[in-house]
Amino acid sequence: MTSVRFIRMQDLDLAGQKLLIREDLNVPVENGRVTSDARIRAALPTIRMALDGGAAVMLMSHLGRPKEGEYDSAASLAPVAEHLSRLLGAPVRLERDWLDGVDVSPGEVVLCENVRFNKGEGKDDEALAKRMAALCDIFVMDAFGTAHRAQASTHGIARFARQACAGPLLAAELDALGRALHSPKAPLVAIVGGSKVSTKLAVLDTLLERVDQLIVGGGIANNFIAAAGYPMGRSLWEPDLLEATQALVAKAEQRGARIPLPVDVVVAREVSPQAEPATRPAAEVGEDEMILDVGPETSRLYAGLIAKAGTIVWNGPVGVFEVEQFAAGTRRLAEAVAASDAYSIAGGGDTLAALERFGLSDRISYISTGGGAFLEFLEGKTLPAVAALEARARG
Ligand code: 3PG
Ligand code: MG
Repeated sequence: MTSVRFIRMQDLDLAGQKLLIREDLNVPVENGRVTSDARIRAALPTIRMALDGGAAVMLMSHLGRPKEGEYDSAASLAPVAEHLSRLLGAPVRLERDWLDGVDVSPGEVVLCENVRFNKGEGKDDEALAKRMAALCDIFVMDAFGTAHRAQASTHGIARFARQACAGPLLAAELDALGRALHSPKAPLVAIVGGSKVSTKLAVLDTLLERVDQLIVGGGIANNFIAAAGYPMGRSLWEPDLLEATQALVAKAEQRGARIPLPVDVVVAREVSPQAEPATRPAAEVGEDEMILDVGPETSRLYAGLIAKAGTIVWNGPVGVFEVEQFAAGTRRLAEAVAASDAYSIAGGGDTLAALERFGLSDRISYISTGGGAFLEFLEGKTLPAVAALEARARG
């Protein structure tokens, strides 16, 4: 929202100050190595700005969902510290025990070990938040990807730190999403894919109040195909939500928004690299077949809508893009978004993975680091960590 009112890190004099910056460095790690560093790279400008401003920098983040109250080497931020240090070109000291105080000088970067090792983090425990707050002069909330969680390191601490502000990444995310949602250049096209309509009912419902076109994909599209009365074969869809899906269609009609249905689909009998795909009209899926992607005619239709868009918001693939036979629909969609002159925003783990796979990430106007937070923002929900900053700014 353009009316978000909080103090920004850029507005503060950082020289000689101890900063505790909450980032979302929750990245995939395999065999002790970071396998996708988008979130780490997104945090770099904030860290550099703090260092350039003369601050002593403490970073904190969660990684995974470890059991609270104990150390677990599998969820250690060690691989992140190493990776960050390489990107930053400077040492990043990992501090395992940090709640009682951290030795850090201006120009230095210390990464505090996984916040979720601390008992009380998830429940936003006040005593824990106070201990975190006592570590710094300024708390900087920069973790957009975790802004939908009211936890000690994202929310509680903002109430008790001497000074609490929004970091540049968090502010940029809110600006970009706010612009797309609240003052979009028309037509606004939203693309919502993914496997289950149940996880995205709320976001579909809210988006329908704003969009001109709503392109649905994956298992979500299947629900709409079923709502049109077509046979589903063995496709993934949620019969319990047939009525809810019909209600969305009615809502769209009422507003004059469109939910274009796939006209052709790619089907197979199994989801595997050995699968033998076939393309069919959406109305002619066989009894033992599953819809696993949209067909070429549908891709052309979608690309036409995307070419005319003024603003595009994208979350979720339209097919099982991880398997080559079912990747074409998502690839063509990504290419259309990349080629479009529209202001485009993409968010969510699968969407970002697809864009990375097709080498198109840098042709999207804004790549969000948020998954759940991105969806909750689109749902129109208040993000608790942002609300805490706003409350502080009101005094
Ligand atoms: C995410 O990856 O969705 C965020 O880092 C939040 O993680 P969480 O869902 O474990 O709170
Ligand atoms: Mg999540």
